[in-house]
Amino acid sequence: MKALQVVLLLLLGLLGARALPFGDGKPAMGFNTWNAFRTDINEKQIMKIADLMVSLGLRDAGYTYLNLDDAWSEKQRVGGKLVANKERFPSGIKALADYVHSKGLKFGIYGDAGTMTCALYPGSLGYEEVDAQTFAEWGVDYLKYDNCFAKREDWVLDRYRAMGEALNKTGRPIFYSLCNWGVMEPWLWAPQIGHSWRITEDILPTWDNVVKLLDYSVGLSRLAGKGIGHHDMDMLYVGNDHLGEYHPYGPFYQEHKMHFALWALMKSPLMVGHDLRRINQSSLDLLLNKEIIAINQDELGVPGDLIWQQGTRRIFAAPLTGGARAVVMANFQTTQTQYPMSNVTVYWEQLGLRRDQAAGVRDIYGGQDLGVFRGSFSAAIATHDVAVLRIAPLEGPTNDGWRPWHGQPLYAAQPANLAVPQPQDWIPNYSGPRTAASAQSQDKQQQQKAAQRQVPSTSHGPPSFALVLACVAAVAALGVVGYYIVLQRRLRGWQQLEDSEAARKAGELARMQQRSKDGWGNGA
Ligand code: GLA
Repeated sequence: MKALQVVLLLLLGLLGARALPFGDGKPAMGFNTWNAFRTDINEKQIMKIADLMVSLGLRDAGYTYLNLDDAWSEKQRVGGKLVANKERFPSGIKALADYVHSKGLKFGIYGDAGTMTCALYPGSLGYEEVDAQTFAEWGVDYLKYDNCFAKREDWVLDRYRAMGEALNKTGRPIFYSLCNWGVMEPWLWAPQIGHSWRITEDILPTWDNVVKLLDYSVGLSRLAGKGIGHHDMDMLYVGNDHLGEYHPYGPFYQEHKMHFALWALMKSPLMVGHDLRRINQSSLDLLLNKEIIAINQDELGVPGDLIWQQGTRRIFAAPLTGGARAVVMANFQTTQTQYPMSNVTVYWEQLGLRRDQAAGVRDIYGGQDLGVFRGSFSAAIATHDVAVLRIAPLEGPTNDGWRPWHGQPLYAAQPANLAVPQPQDWIPNYSGPRTAASAQSQDKQQQQKAAQRQVPSTSHGPPSFALVLACVAAVAALGVVGYYIVLQRRLRGWQQLEDSEAARKAGELARMQQRSKDGWGNGA
């Protein structure tokens, strides 16, 4: 590993000046407007978000950046400079940054390393120095720098380095977040230029997309961390409770739990992307979970990675300061059946611990210590759910030198994970398979129970035919109304999904047209 680090540092040294070192080197935490509002942003709404970041406790939990995404500027530069959109930001960006600062928060902005931003506002290619200076004058603390509308011949490293150097020149410490969607393996060069870099295309509010981004992150842990910079898995969708309605398979609560825990474990920046004006308590509690945040902000700063996979069962892990391990056992099974759980077992040797070492196991989402275990720990995990564990050795040797890439092979054949599921583990009072005889006797018992449950006849006599008819009619009416409501909601949800898909496609078309006008050959 040492040798790899030396080679990396030498290579990075050849690339040019390093970005200004930044703060404590921990993943950035905050709020970004894009996932919640897209281009529909304005100063009143941002001020309200700033207020809510304080009153909901997010700022004090560590979410300190409030970042504007695309569409904050006018469509044209004025005197060669970027200017705030007059209608939506009439007081100007400096005034907004001042307001955000007055709340004890930091202020972030968005730019683009091409001729236009993805939403067709002016880009900074060729204007790096003047734009960096403008940002510094406004009191910007964070720049997200996107990758739309750039030609292939404007080499990606040159474009991103130019803005890095321009930011350094201002002398103001500005967190530099590269957003080039994982193009040209930014993890191999971005540490030299900025503080975090996107490793994937945009996150979408669907389960399949969250799984895809997780797949893209596999094998990258050794290339980021404290002193290097952080892989950015893109902004959070935690709390966007409309997602489940938009998409039939959209994230539900357990999916939000998995999304949040794994983004935290990967040491990705944690950027809230939910409209805080309508957040519900369970989503807020999730975002405020101190122990998950502590994994993300751990002093050791080593990203987690996938350490084991068998089909839809997966284990991700990261070392923590002081020798403990953060472990996320996940069930990616999607089919909803009568068996909505699977057993997963993590073995100590997968975590670089001695096989007979005693370790305390804490269930983080459950908020409880589960006891002392040796050798392994098993849990039943529901579909799309996770067990997030802190496994801390209680006796030596303790070391925090273990890394996810030191573990057992991904295909390790451990006995517990190869054991065929047993019915007695999943079926209470299991008494063997059904036979014709046992089926008959069970049916008989059920009939007897049903007979006992029947209401004894009373002096009132049997209910009249009219009463029965009225009840049936009432139930049917309720059913029709309920069905109509559900159908309406579904149709609305699908319509919204189609609308947003159509809007996305229209945007793509506009960009493609613009690109062909620009004669741009490489895909964005
Ligand atoms: C790109 C980025 C997104 C967002 C939009 C804004 O798609 O990857 O995160 O900033 O542009 O247009």
